[in-house]
Amino acid sequence: MKQTRILAALLISSFCIHVAAQQRNIDQKIDSILRLMTVDEKIGQLNLYAGRMNPTGPITMRENDEDEIRRGHVGMVFNIVGAKRTREIQRIAVEESRLKIPLLIGFDVVHGYRTIFPIPLGESASWDLDLMKRTAKASADEASAMGIHWTFAPMVDVCHDARWGRIMEGGGEDPYLVSLITKAKVEGYQGADLKEMGSVMACAKHFAAYGATIDGRDYNTADISDATLRNIYLPPFKAAVESGVSTLMAGYHELNGIPTSASSYLMTDILRNEWKFDGFVVSDWGSIRETATHGYAKDRKDAAMKSFNAGLDVDMESSAYISHLKELTSEGRVSLENIENSVRKVLRMKYLTGVMDNPYRYCNQQREDTIILKKEYLKLAREAACKSMVLLKNKNQVLPLSENLKSIAVIGPLADSKKDMSGSWSKSCDSKDMITLLEALTTQIGSTTKIKYEKGCDVQGDDRSGFAAAIKVASKSDVILVAMGESKELSGEASSRSDISLPGIQKELLKELKKLNRPIVLILFNGRPLSIPWEADNVDAILEAWFPGNEAGNALADVLFGRFNPQGKLTVSFPRSVGQVPIFYNHKNTGRPEGGGEKFFVTRYIDNSNQPLFPFGYGLSYTTFEYSEIKLEAPQLTYDGILHATVKVKNTGKYKGVETIQLYIRDLVASSTRPVKELKHFQKVELTPGEEKEVKFEIKEEDLRFWNNNKQYFSEPGKFQLFIGSDSESVKKAEFELL
Ligand code: BGC
Repeated sequence: MKQTRILAALLISSFCIHVAAQQRNIDQKIDSILRLMTVDEKIGQLNLYAGRMNPTGPITMRENDEDEIRRGHVGMVFNIVGAKRTREIQRIAVEESRLKIPLLIGFDVVHGYRTIFPIPLGESASWDLDLMKRTAKASADEASAMGIHWTFAPMVDVCHDARWGRIMEGGGEDPYLVSLITKAKVEGYQGADLKEMGSVMACAKHFAAYGATIDGRDYNTADISDATLRNIYLPPFKAAVESGVSTLMAGYHELNGIPTSASSYLMTDILRNEWKFDGFVVSDWGSIRETATHGYAKDRKDAAMKSFNAGLDVDMESSAYISHLKELTSEGRVSLENIENSVRKVLRMKYLTGVMDNPYRYCNQQREDTIILKKEYLKLAREAACKSMVLLKNKNQVLPLSENLKSIAVIGPLADSKKDMSGSWSKSCDSKDMITLLEALTTQIGSTTKIKYEKGCDVQGDDRSGFAAAIKVASKSDVILVAMGESKELSGEASSRSDISLPGIQKELLKELKKLNRPIVLILFNGRPLSIPWEADNVDAILEAWFPGNEAGNALADVLFGRFNPQGKLTVSFPRSVGQVPIFYNHKNTGRPEGGGEKFFVTRYIDNSNQPLFPFGYGLSYTTFEYSEIKLEAPQLTYDGILHATVKVKNTGKYKGVETIQLYIRDLVASSTRPVKELKHFQKVELTPGEEKEVKFEIKEEDLRFWNNNKQYFSEPGKFQLFIGSDSESVKKAEFELL
């Protein structure tokens, strides 16, 4: 035993010596490059330009980008796709620029490159961290085969507001879960070593609290307390840094009066000084220039100075650094030493990714041709889509469907819409590759079951001319599958909605179908929680499919026919009405909570319930699970001890199923008030019918820490409630004390 420990210590120390030597070696190389560079070339390394092919922001008019690369005025590019084109752009940098420094090439690989996985909000509902790591790795593999070294993902903004279109890009409302997802994603994209074939640099964005913007309107203002920032919005970013993320992206929004792209509190005090982040920070598209529009900088030059001095290393699409930093150094308002420090960070990443040694390592047509849409990746996409789906309702066990049904009516604007299956942030995919619900049903059971399809209506608009045909088809079928929701443009960037119910006349059509008195299964495609109280009361089953990606139809068929038993659990609360938004499970108690003796003078709506329609953590299975009471090993937890809590979970239904068992705590009295529940742990357990398992959790003092108003991250002794259950509302309860 002792010998093994000595051997391990020797191995670790020789590894550390090796890493330190490698780092010294890189530093020396960077020093020699810096000695050769003009000031313009240094600033050029901090300049990131977008290609014009796939714009993800407003196109900026400027001189020829290729000439700018030749002049050494560009250090990195993005939105350039395909091995041929990335090779060509790289060739210009390494053959035609004076110092021949290769470019970093970026792209928003948010949920897949050509193989599209479910949108991140959907995938988060799987609560399967290993799966999320595997899909990130596969995305990185495909993207890198096209010459990409850097993805602008994961988006780690916690969000409580379903109106915000970008809620689809993140992992939901809970900081603990989003932090774990962030770690999985960073590890998946970056691999163990950035030099590994198929690894790309990750970028945690948008630093920070973009998900807290008021009104759910994109690009809007966030105004929150420091404690909320630290307890809710920063943990995923900290997790990204601790997982070795290479880059972070600042945001468009302002936080407490300062645009995040010029916030030294975020980028210097917290990120560099507290967290010791050593990668680089990139702006969002034009967000340096926009600090002037916010009213924080006088003009673009002032903006360049404020952002750079606040700690923002790289300028995406503002052309503010390349136009003004040199002048600002000669005026003594920006230090050349700081510019060199930022250049060091960029060059270091170029070494760590291997592009410095082999600029074309990722521009490989043959690899592109063989990797794209590999069978293995499509299989993974199907697994991810199945695991992301959430069964919201299943009255009288209408699902799973029997394969012996005589006829199925497939109705709705999203039943056969290839273009919508990928959801937002999927510019690199080809919608021809998507499999729709109708296609999958026709191929899989079309020879034995009559499948009749009518679209009925569009997602938006008021054209009712398709109603009659849809009703006719539906009236003659054993079951009606209705595919409705949002088209892919209705969520994502710049796609906030003030009404989050089913768009257009879809509900009207659903009401007509309801009159037929046949079982209705509503399959929802959407990028945000929808408010669907009527639908929840009136249809027989609801399956939340999000935007499932390439294998949409196949995965849906797997779930609908019970070849895959749904296991997804919501990572965002579904409101009853938009008026409840922002709604989230980990809210505070207030001085007048509901549920006591008083009925009127309590915190509540007079026209609606306080509770969401479907709470955080909720999702049904085709089987049922029964929970025992919680058994606590002891009533107290010591500061450095471990408290074990166990529950027995039994599969009481007819199908094998997977349950996600969730553990929440509540700190009853603290120096600043704590939420009524906070997720602290979860476990996924598979159970066959009749099987029972004991599930054991470990609670430690560190699980109970929070950022208090004295700006300290501490736990406080006292009483805690502990909850274990199948969602944030259906829980068993116990109590313990932290000594
Ligand atoms: C988005 C970023 C994205 C960037 C580049 C911006 O508009 O906010 O998340 O990475 O465009 O496409």
